[in-house]
Amino acid sequence: MKDFAVRPAAAADAAAVGALAKSRPFTAKWPIADLSDEASRPDALFFVAVDGPIRGYALARLVDKEVRLLDLAAAEDGRGLGRALWDALLDAARERGAAKLTLEVSADNARAAAFYAKRGAKVVGRRPKFYYDGSDAVLMDLEL
Ligand SMILES: CC(C)(COP(=O)(O)OP(=O)(O)OC[C@H]1O[C@@H](n2cnc3c(N)ncnc32)[C@H](O)[C@@H]1OP(=O)(O)O)[C@@H](O)C(=O)NCCC(=O)NCCS
Repeated sequence: MKDFAVRPAAAADAAAVGALAKSRPFTAKWPIADLSDEASRPDALFFVAVDGPIRGYALARLVDKEVRLLDLAAAEDGRGLGRALWDALLDAARERGAAKLTLEVSADNARAAAFYAKRGAKVVGRRPKFYYDGSDAVLMDLEL
């Protein structure tokens, strides 16, 4: 059984989400003020996993019928946090009429790429040297 809950993010969660992002590799290190704004943007899908403190987050943007995954991270790997956040995000995206999810993942991030592939996302392209560290972005899509 899950020992955490997933709920929509609030502006007050921004500092904790920013701190968690900083603590994990491969995350988008957004400024706290931007994360705070995301919580009230009508075109954002933003969820947190909590067990008291925040243990994970998922952030995406809805553009027409496409939901673009902007970031996803868990405080601890392998506890089901990523899976629960992903499920919440996809449920919300479908409810809001999204037909497709798109994402980028670093070619160096095998774990996340496997996580997305296992959930049905397909590699549709590659963007060389997309990330600040020079790594390529692998582009993946999922029909919803
Ligand atoms: C990618 C990430 C979000 C996955 O979240 P997670 O909470 O670890 O994932 P879960 O616990 O839900 O487990 C997902 C799967 O990995 C499996 N798993 C558990 N431990 C594992 C391990 N040590 N190595 C590989 N897979 C493992 C789980 O069994 C589960 O299998 P399932 O696909 O059959 O459900 C997480 O690893 C993370 O935050 N990574 C750093 C940030 C990052 O890379 N974000 C993605 C940016 S594009």
